[in-house]
Amino acid sequence: MRILPLRIAARWTALLVASVALVWAASFLPGLHRGASPVLAAELKPIQLPNPGITGGMPLMHALAARRTTRAFIDTPLPLQTLSNLLWAAFGVNRPRAVKSDLGRTAPSAYNKQDITLDVVLADGVYVYDAEANLLRPVLSGDMRGVISPAPAAHAAVTIVYVAPSRDDYAQVDVGFIAQNVYLFAASEGLNAWFYTVHAQDVAAKLGLGSDRSVLYAQSVGYPPQ
Ligand SMILES: Cc1cc2nc3c(=O)[nH]c(=O)nc-3n(C[C@H](O)[C@H](O)[C@H](O)COP(=O)(O)O)c2cc1C
Repeated sequence: MRILPLRIAARWTALLVASVALVWAASFLPGLHRGASPVLAAELKPIQLPNPGITGGMPLMHALAARRTTRAFIDTPLPLQTLSNLLWAAFGVNRPRAVKSDLGRTAPSAYNKQDITLDVVLADGVYVYDAEANLLRPVLSGDMRGVISPAPAAHAAVTIVYVAPSRDDYAQVDVGFIAQNVYLFAASEGLNAWFYTVHAQDVAAKLGLGSDRSVLYAQSVGYPPQ
């Protein structure tokens, strides 16, 4: 058996270590929590959302009075400002690092892990919401709405897929808080909203998630039929 010269072996080891480190570091970038699957959205650009407007909306008690599930939507996109406001209401940053050592969010999370991610399904593709940058990072291109959502939501302006670490005992509770924020925002804006279960493994595969991330629920929001 031939033994590799020491220099070549060291070079190969360094290359291997660098590749592993690169893959590991990439997994921490929002939008790249997708295990071994590639990010298939080369033709989509990140969407920089406008700053959320936090002065509008109906009084809280009116929004609570109007909150309900409505399973019907027309195929009209939300203005970018409304989309930004919706995602901020859902799980946006309401206390930046300057105010708190860690970010504060509009929904609580067990141990303040803030590890639920929102995959945002729009007509042109799927994006992951980066709350700190107020940005939608492309994940998949193409209209996946009818593939991910049941028929009544196949044309909803936006569907949020709630994704959590596969081993998180509190993820269901964390998602519940976010989803209620979405319901209240929708009620306040006169939008329809529907929270529902999906076939988690199917949707995870369609979204290219790795085994470390699981799909829990989805929630569609959009304009009501006239
Ligand atoms: C954990 C959970 C799972 C749900 N899954 C579904 C679902 O798979 N399909 C559906 O049509 N509605 C689903 N819903 C919505 C409920 O059916 C709805 O909230 C309930 O009928 C009460 O109606 P309301 O939201 O208008 O008060 C779900 C709600 C929750 C909280």
